[in-house]
Amino acid sequence: MMDGKFDNDIQAVVDADRAHVWHHLSQHKPYETSDPRIIVEGKGMRVWDQKGKEHLDAVSGGVWTVNVGYGRERIANAVRDQLIKLNYFAGSAGSIPGAMFSERLIEKMPGLSRVYYCNSGSEANEKAFKMVRQIAHKRYGGKKHKILYRDRDYHGTTIACLSAGGQDERNAQYGPFTPGFIRVPHCLEYRAADQGAPVENYGEWAADQIEAVILAEGPDTVGAICLEPVTAGGGVITPPEGYWPRVQEICRKYDVLLHIDEVVCGVGRTGTWFGYQHYGVQPDMVTMAKGVASGYAAIACLVTTEAVFDMFKDDATDPLNYFRDISTFGGCTAGPAAALENMDIIEEEGLLENTTRMGHYMLDRLAELKDKHAVIGDVRGKGLFLGAELVADRTTREPMAEKRVQMVTADCMAQGLIIGATNRSLPGLNNTLCFSPALIATKDDIDEIIEGVDGALSRVFG
Ligand SMILES: Cc1ncc(COP(=O)(O)O)c(C=O)c1O
Repeated sequence: MMDGKFDNDIQAVVDADRAHVWHHLSQHKPYETSDPRIIVEGKGMRVWDQKGKEHLDAVSGGVWTVNVGYGRERIANAVRDQLIKLNYFAGSAGSIPGAMFSERLIEKMPGLSRVYYCNSGSEANEKAFKMVRQIAHKRYGGKKHKILYRDRDYHGTTIACLSAGGQDERNAQYGPFTPGFIRVPHCLEYRAADQGAPVENYGEWAADQIEAVILAEGPDTVGAICLEPVTAGGGVITPPEGYWPRVQEICRKYDVLLHIDEVVCGVGRTGTWFGYQHYGVQPDMVTMAKGVASGYAAIACLVTTEAVFDMFKDDATDPLNYFRDISTFGGCTAGPAAALENMDIIEEEGLLENTTRMGHYMLDRLAELKDKHAVIGDVRGKGLFLGAELVADRTTREPMAEKRVQMVTADCMAQGLIIGATNRSLPGLNNTLCFSPALIATKDDIDEIIEGVDGALSRVFG
């Protein structure tokens, strides 16, 4: 598969990487004695490394991003054409792809109307937090500034996003954090007993915990709540029955803005355009990033209702009365040009339908694995976004040790199958295998993933 500029001297690439690149989320000590992995090429669902070894990618680029698969020439061509015409101008002016993508996006998001461009999920969430804070200052004398976030959710890597981070191991050693972020309990039914929750109506109970926090903090101090529709890195947590309608009710009751973080679920991952659309809720703000252009260009969006937008233009005589924020690279035109093409592909190839169909198929196949391997305590997911929680004991639900979970992902990798797992995120609970194949996945691809995991579980746990 390799015919690029550096392929004849790939060892020089590896050496340069080893000497100079600081990799994400990586302990670098092992690279003193072994080579880092370089991914050289991708096509469809597969990638090839520096040794020419082929891998089936069951996590869309490692972090659920490459939703339409690798090697899409039409996206590359659209980006190239746009870059030659106009590569960049600051977002204080408009651009053709920026305007056209915003219109296409809003068509998919009834009730929302404004798109603010930037370039990472963290950045989009930061901007939403800034809007909440500014609204608090403009309308409530600064008082209604608190932002609620949920245990086990993740919203990004900056200090403010970590302040809204429900994963204590991700946060460890990065404090002190930004004040005014308040945690509410998670909604993972499989772990309800650890929360002392009742067996009946868990979804409503979990949502009611949010109300209890609002009341304890004082409703006049709480401006917004930020939630993932389906928690991703915190263990693929699908919301329990009854949860979201009750969350919406609570937000309306206390005038709390609902900010839904669709950085992972957005643009097709769960079989609808957005994850929240499964649950009949109407957010005030939605953030998205990864799948918006499937990683062909960096783009993130913060989308709001017209009511939120209006709060920033209700007094044109006030010199501070607008959203005083900038994202330099939010003006890169490659992002919306790639995003337009990405959306066309999803529509033309029926990828939402495929995601729903293949998601059901994969969940069934994971359930078969659960019947076979006692180490699987729970399987869950929505669309092509699935998890299998591993336990040391099915009865007590004692979580499997992270080291042993990592042995499963390592075994898969050795076979040429890339899967994910919660890692160094939740103390004692990094025990969920994660799957997010591209939305183009076929039955054969899924069978190959399941067979690979089946083999790995047999080898690691006997
Ligand atoms: C739910 C969620 N929100 C936000 C982010 C942060 O996005 P980014 O890494 O683009 O800043 C992530 C990244 O994994 C995420 O999973």
